[in-house]
Amino acid sequence: MKKLHILLFFIFFLNTMVWCRQKPAIDVIPYPSSVTLMNGTFIISSGTALNVPQDLVGEADFLNELIKNAIGSKLQLSRRNNNVIKLIKNKSLKSEEYRLNVSKNLIILSGGSSAGVFRGIQTLRQLFSEKAEIPGHLLPSLSLRCLNIEDLPSFEYRGLHLDVSRHFFSVDFLKKYVDMLALYKFNKLHLHLTDDQGWRIEIKKYPKLTENGAWRTLNNQDSACIAKAADNPDMALDSRFLRKKDGQQQYGGYYTQKQMIDFVKYATTRHIEIIPEIDMPGHMMAAIKSYPFLSCTGDSHWGKLFTTPICPCKESTYEFAQNVFKEIFAIFPSKYIHIGGDEVDRTSWETSGVCNELMRKEGIKTSAGLQSYFINRMEKFFNANGKKLIGWDEILEEGISSTAMVMYWRTWVPEAPLKALKNGNRVIMTPGEPLYFDYPPNKNSLYNVYNFSVIPKGYPDKDRGNIVGAQANLWSEMIPSEKRAEYMAFPRAIALAENLWSHEHRNFKSFSKRLLTQYARLDVLGVNYRLPDLENVITDRVFINQDTLFYKNPINNMVLRYTDNESRPSAKSLSLDKPLIIKENKLIKLGVFSKTDTNLRELYVLNFKKQTIMNSVSKPNVSSGLLGSYYKKLPLRSDGADLTKPDSLFYTDMISVPPSINSPAFRIDYTGIIDVPEAGIYTFYLDCDDSGILSIGDNVVVDNGGMHSAIEKNGQVALEKGMHPFKLVFLEGGGGYKLKLLYSFKNSEPAELPQLWLKH
Ligand code: ACM
Repeated sequence: MKKLHILLFFIFFLNTMVWCRQKPAIDVIPYPSSVTLMNGTFIISSGTALNVPQDLVGEADFLNELIKNAIGSKLQLSRRNNNVIKLIKNKSLKSEEYRLNVSKNLIILSGGSSAGVFRGIQTLRQLFSEKAEIPGHLLPSLSLRCLNIEDLPSFEYRGLHLDVSRHFFSVDFLKKYVDMLALYKFNKLHLHLTDDQGWRIEIKKYPKLTENGAWRTLNNQDSACIAKAADNPDMALDSRFLRKKDGQQQYGGYYTQKQMIDFVKYATTRHIEIIPEIDMPGHMMAAIKSYPFLSCTGDSHWGKLFTTPICPCKESTYEFAQNVFKEIFAIFPSKYIHIGGDEVDRTSWETSGVCNELMRKEGIKTSAGLQSYFINRMEKFFNANGKKLIGWDEILEEGISSTAMVMYWRTWVPEAPLKALKNGNRVIMTPGEPLYFDYPPNKNSLYNVYNFSVIPKGYPDKDRGNIVGAQANLWSEMIPSEKRAEYMAFPRAIALAENLWSHEHRNFKSFSKRLLTQYARLDVLGVNYRLPDLENVITDRVFINQDTLFYKNPINNMVLRYTDNESRPSAKSLSLDKPLIIKENKLIKLGVFSKTDTNLRELYVLNFKKQTIMNSVSKPNVSSGLLGSYYKKLPLRSDGADLTKPDSLFYTDMISVPPSINSPAFRIDYTGIIDVPEAGIYTFYLDCDDSGILSIGDNVVVDNGGMHSAIEKNGQVALEKGMHPFKLVFLEGGGGYKLKLLYSFKNSEPAELPQLWLKH
């Protein structure tokens, strides 16, 4: 080859490599460990057969239902070896591992177990166009590109949770939820079956648990949902779970044992393990109201934060708890049973004579010790019945046996997972941030869930294996409908699915592209997912002469409509189908709608401000870094006027929560100068949990105030080159510890503020 040809070939080869790395070979989520594309296609038509051993007929049935839905007929079973899909178990693979080989005449799907084969069927399913899933829409055949896939999960525990107590969900919805879990290769569904607001599973020995305990008069959270339903119909209470009794409106519902057994069977055919939670000793008000002997005081009511728990000092409590769990063990074949153990208000134990007596007898020093006594005793009972206990991380306090499984959730107790590992426990990660999917989603949630590090940085190698995986929780206080539950869970659950299955080879850019094609499948499956965010929306927009408003829709099933008279956009508002020129100060409300209904799905309030460029200030003798003023308690007044003197001062060129701070609620003011190198419009992005307000000169540039979980807000300001007064006030109310400020200039990617810009 001539030198020039060699060079051209080399450039072509490099380009191809780069292109291959950027463009995923197949649109599958979670992305498999290894994919090799080959030439040719396999056509599945009614003449194709299925070759399956006896112990994979359930999985074959699932595949055949998909194929029947696509082409109108099931495939015949046959032992032949051409024009056939062959399912096999291969004991040399790990349980959920599978290999998929598609060649022109033969598809071989082998799995380490029937679960492995089933996971491979979900890959096959996603390789079919979503049109194959449209009910009643028949395709002449299904065409599959020849390829080789080798795939296995990174984590053994890949879960979602659903709280069916605060609001209730139908069995049909549970089945749909399980179907979605199966599609994305999850393997666990944790059902939070009981809580103060409702007992949701029939217990034959204690019928009042559901006769009374499954029903409540409407509570504050119901009222809050009803208020929100004025703007969003998905926030209305589900009328199937409302009844009138004795002239009173009640909310409730429960699953009979028969329904639950049937549901567990359904989930088993989809290789999803149902883990039930019966939360005790706290969160038991619904049970205590029905069986008052359960508490130390004979009643239960709300204390400062939580309700009166059951009494761990009376034998009758253990008799009740064991009888309940005996029935639970019989319904749920899972070896894991969750006992809760979170958020216990122990004051009623501290003043109880029976508890004082038990403490004396057992040498227990504190009420926390009583909680540990209760959980440990219950764990022995679980183990004697062949079950393993899972509890929220509070079960670690005052000691727990190493055989219990710990579910970590309290972000503000960061040492808990390591403490559990050191005690020999296995750990499931479900930290509030980012895995509480009841927290409202925002434009960063997908990234945060996708990049969530299941094993915290710096954990010793020997302990890492005992972090078995992670789970996202969907607490339903503010989730009164099935559509709302889907909106909160999807697409975040899809990001978590890839994180947990394909942890080591995650690539958010590639995921984001593949997710766009998944939305079309979710449309076909009737899932009310949250529509994708518009790219790079600046909510407080600044211009000097004029500005243009336009966004490209990321997916087909989306329409943008807007108003400029402060009213909420509706399905009748003007559609933003061409650029809109803005010349004056204007408030635009931009609504995102799906093509499938008239509900407003997302609302962007865009404030356009005409600004003149802000003059710089001169300040001699500046030093590097901002001044941080730390107040270890939150102010009582929202303007902070009662904070006279900071508890400490420090200088810093990084805007973040210093790791040394351990106060649960505090304030930091960062003040000084920002020295920008060029005149123009600067954009600032402030992501914080809780409140953050950024001012430059006299302008509030980003107002992300209020007590809230992590959300990002942004804003702009037109600055002359040089120095400008800078102030960022951050309040932490407890739990989040998140503070991040980025900037962009002339459409650059958002980045940390350069240290050289920050002065005092
Ligand atoms: C919890 O969120 N109370 C486990």
